[in-house]
Amino acid sequence: MTDLSAAHDAAVTDRGRLAGSAYNGDRDLAARQSLYQWQTPRYDLPGLVAERLGDVRGRVVDIGCGNGKFIQRLRQDRPDLSLLGLDIAPGILAGVPGPVAVADATRLPLAAGSIDAALALHMLYHVPDIPQAVRELARVVARDGLVVASTNGDRDKAELDDLWQRAAGDVLGIDRGPARISLSARFSLEKAPAFLGEEFSRVEVVELPGTIAVHDPEPVIAHMASYRAWADQHDVPFDATIDRARTLVADHIVRYGAYEITCLGGILVCRR
Ligand SMILES: C[S@@+](CC[C@H](N)C(=O)[O-])C[C@H]1O[C@@H](n2cnc3c(N)ncnc32)[C@H](O)[C@@H]1O
Repeated sequence: MTDLSAAHDAAVTDRGRLAGSAYNGDRDLAARQSLYQWQTPRYDLPGLVAERLGDVRGRVVDIGCGNGKFIQRLRQDRPDLSLLGLDIAPGILAGVPGPVAVADATRLPLAAGSIDAALALHMLYHVPDIPQAVRELARVVARDGLVVASTNGDRDKAELDDLWQRAAGDVLGIDRGPARISLSARFSLEKAPAFLGEEFSRVEVVELPGTIAVHDPEPVIAHMASYRAWADQHDVPFDATIDRARTLVADHIVRYGAYEITCLGGILVCRR
C-alpha cells in the first residue's frame, strides 16, 4: 500500500510529466474547467477570487497560473493591479497575457514581502514538497498580505471514480478495475487547512458544493480523458476504458435522462 501511494504521489508531482505532457498546452486543463458549465449552482470562480482581492492594492502573483483563466479576469476587473503569472510548464504559458515566467512554487523568484496577494489555485497538490511551497507563499507575501488557494474535496466527483472502476472492470473482464489516479488527494480541501495553518494563523475555507448534470456523455468523457498524461499509471488500457465509460454514461442518460456528478471544490483565504 505504501509503495502504491508513493508511486501515485511521484506521478502526480513528476515535473517532466507536468511540464512535458499534462500541462504542455491547455487542452486537458480546459476540458476539466469546461465541465463546470453544467454545474448547479454555477460559481464564478475567477469572480469569487477577484472579490476576495477587493482590498488588495499593488502586486499580485498567480502561481501555477495554467492557461491564465484567473489572470485574464483580473486584468479585466482590476486593471489597477500589477499581475504576474508563474508556472513550471512553459507550454501552457504561451497564451497567457504577460508578464509571465517559468518558475517553481517551491523556489519563487520573488523578494521577501514583495507581493500583496498570491494565488495558488488548484496547483499545490502537484508540488512534491507542499510545506516548502506554503513557506514560500508566506515568505513572498507582505505581512498584511493575502493568499488564496483552491482545491477539491476528497469526495469531489466520486461518480467519475466509480465510473472509471466500472469501465476498467468491464475492459479487464472483472467486477471492478483499479482506481484511477487522484490529482487533488495530496492537498484536498480536507487536508489543505493543516498545510496552510503552518504559516497562516487565519485560514478561511469557502466550500463550493454543486451538482453537474449532463445530457450528452462527451463533456464527462473529455474530463475523464484529460487524465491521459497519467495513462501509464492505470493498470488497464486507457483508451479502451474511456470508450467503455462513454457507453456506460450514454446508457445511463438513455435510462435516467441525465448523468449527474456531485462536486465539492473550495477556496482557502489565508492571512497571517
Ligand atoms: C490544475 S492546473 C491549475 C491552473 C490554474 N491555477 C487554474 O486554477 O485554472 C495546475 C497548474 O500548476 C502548474 N504547476 C504544477 N506544479 C507546479 C510548481 N511546482 N510550480 C509552479 N507551477 C506548478 C501546472 O503546470 C499547471 O499549469
